[in-house]
Amino acid sequence: MLPIDWTPNNKDRMPLYVQIIEYIKNKIRIGDWPVNYKLPPQRELARIFQVNRSTVATAIDELIADGLLESKIGSGIWVANNTWSILTSPQQVNWNSYVESGIYLPNFPTIQEINRSEFNPKNVRLGTGELSPELIPSVMIKSILSKLPDKIQSFGYEESRGLLYLRQQLSHYLKDFGIDASPASILIVSGALQALQLICFGLLPKDATILLEKPSYLLSLKLFQSMSMQFSGIPMDDEGIQVTSIDYQKKHQNTSLLYTIPCFHNPTGTLMTEQRRKDLLALCQKELLPIIEDDVYRELWIDAPPPAPLKALDKDGRVIYIGSLSKSLSPGMRIGWIVGPEPVIERLADMKMQNDYGSSSLSQWAAAEWLASGLHQNHLQEVRKQLKIRRDIAIEALEMNFSDIATWNIPKGGFYIWLKLIHPVSLQKLFKAALDTGLLINPGNIYDALSNNHLRLSYSFAALPDIKNGLYRLSNIIRKLSDRNSW
Ligand SMILES: Cc1ncc(COP(=O)(O)O)c(C=O)c1O
Repeated sequence: MLPIDWTPNNKDRMPLYVQIIEYIKNKIRIGDWPVNYKLPPQRELARIFQVNRSTVATAIDELIADGLLESKIGSGIWVANNTWSILTSPQQVNWNSYVESGIYLPNFPTIQEINRSEFNPKNVRLGTGELSPELIPSVMIKSILSKLPDKIQSFGYEESRGLLYLRQQLSHYLKDFGIDASPASILIVSGALQALQLICFGLLPKDATILLEKPSYLLSLKLFQSMSMQFSGIPMDDEGIQVTSIDYQKKHQNTSLLYTIPCFHNPTGTLMTEQRRKDLLALCQKELLPIIEDDVYRELWIDAPPPAPLKALDKDGRVIYIGSLSKSLSPGMRIGWIVGPEPVIERLADMKMQNDYGSSSLSQWAAAEWLASGLHQNHLQEVRKQLKIRRDIAIEALEMNFSDIATWNIPKGGFYIWLKLIHPVSLQKLFKAALDTGLLINPGNIYDALSNNHLRLSYSFAALPDIKNGLYRLSNIIRKLSDRNSW
């Protein structure tokens, strides 16, 4: 066997396995490795090349696919061909390797499946965190849209903080919640999710630790793990995040901020009490800890208006506040906002310009006209009425079908019921078994790896008869799976 005194270069932009392919091709081309030459075993090649075995395997597989090498069962890999045309054929781009080496991590497979399955109209969506199409005021939105052509003053880019007219409307609208925000301290974003991206990537160092409720919506997003951010989950009770469990200084040297969803929390539906809000703010003041308040569910109260936002209680610019029209009006508009100290807003606005040159001008005009029209409050009254009906029907269906297999909270608003299964079942099996029968659910472990006895149910999306019937069918599937477990 011929000696190999070459290793691929780690610093080269060309992936290691491509360098190996080129090396082997060259050996064949110059005749060092003639037809019928037997290559060293893959384990040996990996050792010589100082790479993982899988890297060698990928290179060998490609060369086999190109017809240059051949695998003979039981006797290894051989050179099969040294035809010039094969050797000179340009190596095709292996997009898979690029896809795998991108900086952003892919979504959890379950979330990818949910995202796909939501668009199968046959599925009953028992976990979707969105208003049902029948609760979106399409006629009213269309009437606003029809008037836009006369209102829009320019179809160019908007200024970096977003359309001034929309920020003026928001400044006015936020006063109802006790938030005093000038248009200069508001940044328009493409939904609350973009707000979170801008805040985390624009204000935090790479190794930052974010304190947050456990479970949390943020834990379902791989995006932040992609940038090496750490999360530290704080337990919750029925008043919200447990402030006494925040042992901030001792445990988290790199802790950079606290993220919270105080109103109708995703996924638990919990409403943080007024006292808890005060305690949280006091602790964060003491520890000099900034707060990101994600308040996208605030307006969706069912029983009584929620306590004032942390931002309204904040007297020293500690809180960065996030809102959105996604949950209360239309997620498709992709309009959200950030309220914060002006230097923060300026920094995030600069990042947003680098990202997308601003949110869609058409959506911004539509949102501004919607808020200016006064239709929002009428619409919200109707949404609250309908959410109450939906919540009550869901709770009734749970009482009828789940009382021996689960426990749950009764949310005071928002979309979610955090269902806890009494007998453990594999959430993966449950997800699949439910989907096989056309029921789409959100397993709890996408919001916290340890929440593997929970489901996030939503009563906001499915039609009323589907909520009733769907929950009945789901209870039977759970019973069947947990019966099987106890065999
Ligand atoms: C707490 C929370 N924040 C942000 C978002 C994202 O909202 P948007 O559609 O405004 O990006 C969601 C959506 O589920 C959410 O639940």
